[in-house]
Order: sequence, then C-alpha cells, then structure tokens
Amino acid sequence: MSGNAFGNRLTVTLFGESHGAAIGCVIDGLAPGLSFDWDEVRREMKRRAPGQNSMSTPRKEADAFEIVSGYFDDHTTGTPLTAIIRNTNQHSRDYGEMKYKMRPGHADYSGYIKYGGFGDYRGGGHFSGRITAPLVFAGALARQVLRKEGITIGSHILSIGSVKDRPFSPMGETKEVLEGLTHEVLPVLEKDRADVMKKEILSAAGEKDSVGGIIECMAVGIPSGWGDPFFDSVESVLSHLLFSVPAVKGVAFGDGFAMAGARGSEMNDAMRMKDGHVTTTSNHNGGILGGITNGMPIRFTAAIKPTASIGKEQQTVNMSTMTNTSISVGGRHDPCIVPRAVPVIEAVMALGLLMIQEDDSVYGK
Ligand SMILES: Cc1cc2nc3c(=O)[nH]c(=O)nc-3n(C[C@H](O)[C@H](O)[C@H](O)COP(=O)(O)O)c2cc1C
Repeated sequence: MSGNAFGNRLTVTLFGESHGAAIGCVIDGLAPGLSFDWDEVRREMKRRAPGQNSMSTPRKEADAFEIVSGYFDDHTTGTPLTAIIRNTNQHSRDYGEMKYKMRPGHADYSGYIKYGGFGDYRGGGHFSGRITAPLVFAGALARQVLRKEGITIGSHILSIGSVKDRPFSPMGETKEVLEGLTHEVLPVLEKDRADVMKKEILSAAGEKDSVGGIIECMAVGIPSGWGDPFFDSVESVLSHLLFSVPAVKGVAFGDGFAMAGARGSEMNDAMRMKDGHVTTTSNHNGGILGGITNGMPIRFTAAIKPTASIGKEQQTVNMSTMTNTSISVGGRHDPCIVPRAVPVIEAVMALGLLMIQEDDSVYGK
C-alpha cells in the first residue's frame, strides 16, 4: 500500500495538493447502513479551517465537502465513500519564489528530493496542513460511529509556549467536559489560561515568529480487550496516525516519558473490583497494556512544533542555483498551529479507534 493510504479492514486514502483543483479522501471498509449528521461533520471541519479567530491566518477556506461515492438514500452503501473539498482560495503568487528557496523546518527540501523537483510546491502542495481537512472529515464520521457505542473523545491544549493548562484527570473526564471542549477555539480546562495562551501566540506573531505546544487527548467509554500486541498495538496504530499529522513531533501515552524516572510501585495501576467490574485505582498507563485496552480512559499527549513558515529572516539554500541565500516567508501562515491541530488530533484518535475495532471484529468482538 502506498504511503497515502492507511488501515487494514478500514482504510483511509488522502489525496490532493493545497493549490490543486481539490483535496479529499476515500474511506473504504465502512459498514453499510450507517447514516451521518452532516451538520456535525461541517462543524468539525470548521474547527480546523483557517480564519476562525484573530490568531489564525486571515485566509478563508470554506472546506465545503462533496460526497461523490459510497452514500445513497442517506446511508453508507458499504462501498468506498469518497469526499472531495474543492480548493477555492488559492493565492499561488504568495508562493512563487518558493519553488527553489527551501523553507527551513518545512518539507520543501525533503519533498523536492523525494519527487525529483516535480512536486506541486504551491502552498506546500501535498505537505500542506490543508490536507488535514479530509482527515478531519474521516475522523468526524468515525467519531459519530463510536459515539453510538458510548465512546467520547475530547482534548485540550496542555501548553502553548511556556503557558500551561492543568492536565486531564487520568481517571477520566466526564463526557460533558470532553464534548464541551470541542466548542472552544482555545480549549482549556482552566478557563483563564486561554487569554494568556492567546497573548503568547500574538507575541510570537509580533516578532514575525511562531510558537508550538502540546495537545492532550482522551477517549472515555472504551471497552477492555481492543487491540493487538506488538505491531498493531493500540499505541502503534494511534501513533502511526498521529505522526501522519504534519507538525506532530512527539507522542506519549499515559504518563509517557515521566514513567522512565519513576518506580514500578508508583507507575503500576493497582487493580480492584468495583460494582462487579475490574478497574484500576490510577491510570498511569493511559488505558493500554500490552497494546490492548484495559477499559480505563485512553490518554495521550502530542507535541506540535512551532510553525515552520515565519517572517523572520533565516538562512537557506536555493535549489536552482545551489547557493546559499536567506528567506523571509510571506503569505498566510498561522503563528501557532496548535488550536487548529486540536480537531485533527481528535480525528485521528477516532479514526484509529474505529480501525482497531474493525480489525478486532475478526474475533467476533
Ligand atoms: C492544521 C495544520 C495547519 C498547518 N499550517 C501550516 C502553516 O500555515 N504554515 C506552515 O509552515 N506549516 C503549517 N503546518 C505544518 C506543516 O504542514 C508541517 O510542519 C510540514 O509539512 C513539515 O512536516 P513536519 O513538521 O511534520 O516534519 C500545519 C499543520 C497542521 C496540522
């Protein structure tokens, strides 16, 4: 399978370039007979779209999708569901000089080498954050399927630059809290943090610079026993999808790297019987043991790097003349990707969980 498709029984293929005719996805393996709330899908897409707030790039992209296959008479048919999102707001001249001048921190150079200079470099081409729009579309469908099974997904911004929110309660947040966060532009648990984060973003922008951050994501209501050991572990599937999201540079499950410095007695999640069910009294392992869910909330953090395209002058090379030069990136770029990455992270959590469930269905679970 090519690098643009992922999944076993349920697969998602992404296609398109930022300034081409359209972008989109093919979702193959959805059960027949599912029906979706398209207004909710539109709302999810809007959360990711640029231009939603004063911190985001001023370009307006409607991200209006069109279903071209796999949905008939208000139900999935069971054949590949294809959605396209036409590109309507391209300003290719913003990127004209970028053909040979490589943006440090972006995929210009690595993509130029991989595709022998034939890639559509305009607006980042296939490496553009815009290609996450069809990912959010696919995730929005997965989220609706999972919700019917009692699974809720939500996330908040744990940090932007040096500004921190408090972490999720590892034992789980309520469905209301998780769903409520999806309605916020800067989703935080300590509400006063949002303004301070906004200031951090605007201060970086004022210096023609950018800032990164950490997103914490949680899924509650997952039954125990999902997933496989080793190669298709829940951590493997989710982190494969998470690292597919542009700008994600770190992923940790449960207490993650902090576990390395602790004692076993501190990190083992003690087990108890509660109302006839097995449960744990803590959740350092983030709901996954041996690659398989243990019924506790799944919890991970994803580190998002500062936006590569910045106005500040930086050293680079010109691939046409093979000489050193400098670059100051113009065009429309967010000084912080984190708020717009939140719905993308939730989308891949939903997609990954549905893929794991589909793979497990061979066991008749
Ligand atoms: C929602 C979203 C929007 C993005 N917007 C931009 C952007 O405006 N400018 C930019 O330089 N990078 C942006 N990126 C990140 C780049 O696409 C990414 O850094 C680049 O492809 C290099 O890949 P890597 O950082 O994963 O190595 C965005 C990423 C996401 C998820």
